[in-house]
Amino acid sequence: MSESLTTVAYLGAAILFILSLGGLSNPETSRRGNLYGIIGMALAVLATVIGPHVTAAGIPWIVGAMVVGAAIGLYAARTVQMTQMPELVALMHSLVGLAATLVGYASFIDPAASANFSGAEKLIHEVEIYVGVLIGAVTFSGSIIAFGKLSARIGGKPLLLPGRHILNLIGLLIVIWFGIQFVRAGSIQEGMTPLIIMTVIALLFGIHMVMAIGGADMPVVVSMLNSYSGWAAAATGFMLSNDLLIVTGALVGSSGAILSYIMCRAMNRNFISVIAGGFGSDTGKAKPAGGTAAQPEGEAVPVTAAETAEMLRDAKNVIIVPGYGMAVAQAQHTVYEITRLLREKGVNVRFGIHPVAGRMPGHMNVLLAEAKVPYDIVMEMDELNEDFADTDVAMVIGANDIVNPAAQDDPTSPIAGMPVLEVWKAKHSIVMKRSMASGYAGVDNPLFYKDNNRMLFGDAKKMLDEVLGVLKTA
Ligand code: TAP
Repeated sequence: MSESLTTVAYLGAAILFILSLGGLSNPETSRRGNLYGIIGMALAVLATVIGPHVTAAGIPWIVGAMVVGAAIGLYAARTVQMTQMPELVALMHSLVGLAATLVGYASFIDPAASANFSGAEKLIHEVEIYVGVLIGAVTFSGSIIAFGKLSARIGGKPLLLPGRHILNLIGLLIVIWFGIQFVRAGSIQEGMTPLIIMTVIALLFGIHMVMAIGGADMPVVVSMLNSYSGWAAAATGFMLSNDLLIVTGALVGSSGAILSYIMCRAMNRNFISVIAGGFGSDTGKAKPAGGTAAQPEGEAVPVTAAETAEMLRDAKNVIIVPGYGMAVAQAQHTVYEITRLLREKGVNVRFGIHPVAGRMPGHMNVLLAEAKVPYDIVMEMDELNEDFADTDVAMVIGANDIVNPAAQDDPTSPIAGMPVLEVWKAKHSIVMKRSMASGYAGVDNPLFYKDNNRMLFGDAKKMLDEVLGVLKTA
């Protein structure tokens, strides 16, 4: 394939990627968005493999690597649980970072690559390598730690080293100093030492950065590493002089940065403060309530599935708030059945979606779309928070942190300031979960003890099946 035909194919792929991102911004168009992305990527890979930069001898190696990679990817995609997606994504980001680092080293030690450049071009090429390896190494080690934290292999407690900001600053100055040594080096051997030292510092920085972030702020870290992986890919594109990789990397980098900003707003966090570390709770795993925060007053009143069904049937307005527990229980299809039945009986049922409900952006939207819940009754938090006062029943299904009034009332709470769905303002709220345990952020929830709240204890799927059974017989 000629150079110009490859450029045309790359342009087509870049347009498809932009259309893909546009499609993915809305549940109704997300399937189409995915399809654009798949076609764009297939086109990009094909144009690269049969393009002018790959020799015939290299093709079997590429095809062999693709077969192995595709088999691993297929296996992971088929076996991973929806709730494990964030950790899989973190692991994939680490691979992008590793690839950028390895490509950087390969471009540096490849005599053919360095022979192509001289003067200012050589300087630019070396800066590209240095920055590419730097971003790649930070992304690699940071993503591995994020994987460890999200899969609970590493505790959620933020690691706060004394003088951590000074440590980071010293690390940055050393990296800049070795960068100058790197571009001044006269040979590959001379340049290798500063490059290796910088890589070690970047790896340590990635570990330190994510270790310092508390469990409750992990959503921001996931989207931030998503952004880093984009910039790492763009840096790889510069090193390989591949325009498509630069464009695609920049698209992923900037959309990840926007997502991080949205996440920070949703959790009322300052982006820089999250990166600097130290926010968040002392654990990433659920634990019994009553641990750290002040014990909420009052008594949690249990309710049965039959009573829940009765309350729902008698209501005019119902808001359902799904959370992580709905995903664990895979209760979305029963939720849909209940919604359909209630709507047939004239009840106005809507869904309230918190931006960080579940364990990944859009987690609840994906599950509800899969269960065929109509999009027009699935609302964002901001769209219906004011409507709770006119709501008869707010039904919370396996959610906890996102409906915690302590975020508004208790300035000492680890989730203080995080906007939440104000379900306690409804005439009645019903919280469906298995026990009194806390959620992801590990904090008590005073909602459970409010006078107008009832607790429906049990697995969400099982309890909803019982509610559905009663509704059907009525
Ligand atoms: P959580 O606060 O984690 O609460 C989920 C609740 O579901 C738990 O308290 C648990 O209580 C219950 N549960 C678990 N399995 C259940 C089952 N089978 N049936 C019924 N209930 C079940 O979830 P949330 O309210 O959705 O909030 C999300 C949290 O995750 C936030 O703190 C957010 O910051 C964090 N986070 C979000 C993301 C993104 S991007 N969305 C990523 C990482 C972390 P029991 O054990 O008593 O049943």
